[in-house]
Amino acid sequence: LDNGLLRTPPMGWMAWERFRCDIDCHDDPQNCISEDLFRDMADRLVEDGWKELGYEYVMIDDCWMSKLRDEQGRLQPEPSRFPGGIAKLARYIHDRGLKLGIYADMGTHTCMGLPGTTLDKIEIDAQTFASWGVDYLKFDGCYSNPLEQMLGYPLMSLALNATGRPIAYSCSWPVYVGGLPPVVNYTLMGNICNLWRNYFDIQDSWDSLQGIVDWFFNNQDDLQPAAGPGQWNDPDMLIIGNFGLSLEQSRSQMALWAIMASPLIMSNDLRNLDNGARAILQNKVAIAINQDPLGIQGRRLLQEKSRIEVYWRPLANSASALVFLSRRSDMPYLYHTSLAKLNYNPGNYGVYDVFTGSTVTGLNTTTLFTISINPSGVVMWYILPEHSKKTHTHHHLHK
Ligand code: DGJ
Repeated sequence: LDNGLLRTPPMGWMAWERFRCDIDCHDDPQNCISEDLFRDMADRLVEDGWKELGYEYVMIDDCWMSKLRDEQGRLQPEPSRFPGGIAKLARYIHDRGLKLGIYADMGTHTCMGLPGTTLDKIEIDAQTFASWGVDYLKFDGCYSNPLEQMLGYPLMSLALNATGRPIAYSCSWPVYVGGLPPVVNYTLMGNICNLWRNYFDIQDSWDSLQGIVDWFFNNQDDLQPAAGPGQWNDPDMLIIGNFGLSLEQSRSQMALWAIMASPLIMSNDLRNLDNGARAILQNKVAIAINQDPLGIQGRRLLQEKSRIEVYWRPLANSASALVFLSRRSDMPYLYHTSLAKLNYNPGNYGVYDVFTGSTVTGLNTTTLFTISINPSGVVMWYILPEHSKKTHTHHHLHK
């Protein structure tokens, strides 16, 4: 969507995967969906170095609403959990240099049964969000049919634009119609949405993550061309820092989400994050690869019989990123290859290993090298061509 927003994939935090629809503030005050939770996360983003790395959106998901609209037909937050209201929460977040995301559902109800946005409510809901100072809308698609979705998602895009407030627009539409062409028209998606969920929800497990990765790369011919500045595929939240991933697997999610130009939207408890997870999520080079200004989504290059896979993404300034992923579960695997085998143009390259910080210079395309990839882990490289002095030498020889 060409609204000037999200020229690189959004970065931030979203409640859903980690905190779901916990509305029990009596027995679980620390973790229930309430204004306190979002203020806490905003504080952490600012005070723990996330904001300066680019993580700027604080996003409310389902279960913020009251069971009923107000007398004027507007959505309202559940007052016991959001006593200050959303506008006040938006102010709190804006005062800290962050942005606020909110959630609604194209349909009769949200997935958790709260008031939905039927076609007749699209305009008023867009106006309400803009009046509160919302910066991002996730528009889910439970409890609607394909015809209503075909009308509703474009209408919300127009309604948000008509508010005059810049509001990034995330569409869950593709998920509800299978995620693939010809049913999903990705040209249309790119015109009306800044990002879109293509596939099922991520859960807190390596299995769930692998299922998502497989689906996205098995369908890369349909999905990869759809992405670019202002329009992104969304394989769902980062689950790093929760319970389901080992550190190796956490590096794998960060690496693959960088290759895919995916939103970097964490859903974890920033108040209780171990240093391993924090270092992965705050890896500056992985973030820079994800946020590359060209915005070209990467691709899977190879799936070896050894269950090693190679992923590649072209970056600005002739740079590129490679990810070597092991799907094995035995021991570190020694993988032998060369840059020539990975389609690199002849020449010498400098390599920076994103997670170890080690570097190699003068790696010739023809040179065979060996890397060790841990089970369910990755080796991630940032690669730059080294300027050959060939032309210069040539002139010299002719003198
Ligand atoms: C389905 C979405 O895909 C999830 O990300 C989350 O928003 C839930 N609905 C909320 O009910």
